[in-house]
Amino acid sequence: MSQWPVHGRIEGAIVMIGFGSIGKGTLPLIERHFEFDKKRFVVIDPNDKDRALLDERGIRFEQVTLTRENFRDVLKPLLTAGKGQGFCVNLSVDTSSLAIMEFCREIGALYIDTVVEPWPGFYYDKNMDTGLRTNYALRETVQEARRRNPGGSTAVSCCGANPGMVSWFVKQALVNLANDLGDKGTEPKTKAEWAALAQRLGVKGVHIAERDTQRARQPKPLDVFVNTWSVEGFLSEGMQPAELGWGTHEKWMPGNASTHTFGCGAAIYINQPGANTRVRSWTPTPGPQFGFLVTHNEAISIADYYTVRDASGQAVYRPTCHYAYHPCNDAVLSLHEMFGRAGKMQEEHHILGEAEILDGIDELGVLLYGHGKNAYWYGSQLSVEETRRIAPYQNATGMQVTSAVLAGMVWALENPNAGIVEADEMDFRRCLEVQTPYLGPVIGAYTDWTPLTDRPGFFPEDIDPSDPWQFRNVLVR
Ligand SMILES: NC(=O)c1ccc[n+]([C@@H]2O[C@H](COP(=O)([O-])OP(=O)(O)OC[C@H]3O[C@@H](n4cnc5c(N)ncnc54)[C@H](O)[C@@H]3O)[C@@H](O)[C@H]2O)c1
Repeated sequence: MSQWPVHGRIEGAIVMIGFGSIGKGTLPLIERHFEFDKKRFVVIDPNDKDRALLDERGIRFEQVTLTRENFRDVLKPLLTAGKGQGFCVNLSVDTSSLAIMEFCREIGALYIDTVVEPWPGFYYDKNMDTGLRTNYALRETVQEARRRNPGGSTAVSCCGANPGMVSWFVKQALVNLANDLGDKGTEPKTKAEWAALAQRLGVKGVHIAERDTQRARQPKPLDVFVNTWSVEGFLSEGMQPAELGWGTHEKWMPGNASTHTFGCGAAIYINQPGANTRVRSWTPTPGPQFGFLVTHNEAISIADYYTVRDASGQAVYRPTCHYAYHPCNDAVLSLHEMFGRAGKMQEEHHILGEAEILDGIDELGVLLYGHGKNAYWYGSQLSVEETRRIAPYQNATGMQVTSAVLAGMVWALENPNAGIVEADEMDFRRCLEVQTPYLGPVIGAYTDWTPLTDRPGFFPEDIDPSDPWQFRNVLVR
């Protein structure tokens, strides 16, 4: 785009927490798309390795580790400096999204994050009940905050690529599918109408189906965890139990799966790490592939959003929903190395910068399955080459996330009193309008592949031939 649109003016201070791969990539998008007072833009991070990017722009950098004890004292003066509504953009690890979000709402600042992150200690607490070490439990804390304190200044929870953008893709995919199946209804407006549409179209489930083909110029060294985004973030979610939104069509549950006794009831968890749990899925470039069933907020929020209940409150329709993630090959090798030594993590972590990547795309979309046209993938196929052309300091994976943060920020500015929201509840058209210039080709593709295609092979398998789209057929056992 020769002329980038300015989407709005941020009147108050901007405080970015975390200047890692996503923070650095978000910086040029904020500069490009908002008017703001540079003197009141502050970045907080305990690590100053990239502060030169801020120094050269005259943006203030605070080298601080936010903690339970200090976060109010650090954030309040920064967010309330000068006139106008402050905006807190939380792109860090090891800080409590809930605590910071609630505090921002207390002082009337806007807030956005890309994950429900807890204070340190949560992910690796061996004494914690497994059911509480889930994203389901983390999400319930945010839902509870929202019930306790409805409305008020906008806080966008979990607005990256996934969770985030993929919820907007689900809506666009449903609209496209309705069209292609000849559905006569009008476009839904409310949650109930969206859920009714998914039910009417016969969507049994949704995979967040991703293939990252970005290849590093240098092969992965021994004992280094290599990834295209936060290694710390990936490890912590990957060591949580595998979790999935649990559809009403499912007839079988893994023997080591558990349900929750509290909350919305939309999901189950499996008593094994998500990054060591494989599922069969499909994206356009490789076709059929294994993905990891890593827990994510969207697996639960989408299943919850599209639940249809009867008068007694019983769920009569819900799609199954989970992540099926094939990270870059180096990350697959890193996981293999780590789980080969009983989950002992590599000492060294490395996030591939765009200059270290030879080629590849991040193909990230939603696979809606089980309907009259079998399965439909809708998503972004962003290459590292295109990413380099459109904005600095990030690879393709990063740009799918940072452009979703941008879209979420625009939406929050335009809807400053919406309370706590998830991506499923935002205006998907507006958000995709802002984001799409950063997504490379965005395509829809039908496939006749199912998890039973070419199975069983040489050996007998425990499958359910009566319905290819049962989780029993999806899970690799
Ligand atoms: N929703 C999505 O699509 C999506 C995608 C990628 C990353 N994420 C999330 O975004 C966040 C950032 O990812 P990233 O790839 O930039 O990670 P990163 O590891 O590159 O950066 C995280 C930054 O947080 C800083 N940090 C650590 N402790 C802190 C503290 N106590 N106070 C302030 N800053 C602290 C670190 O120093 C680091 O610079 C992670 O939580 C990650 O899970 C979400």
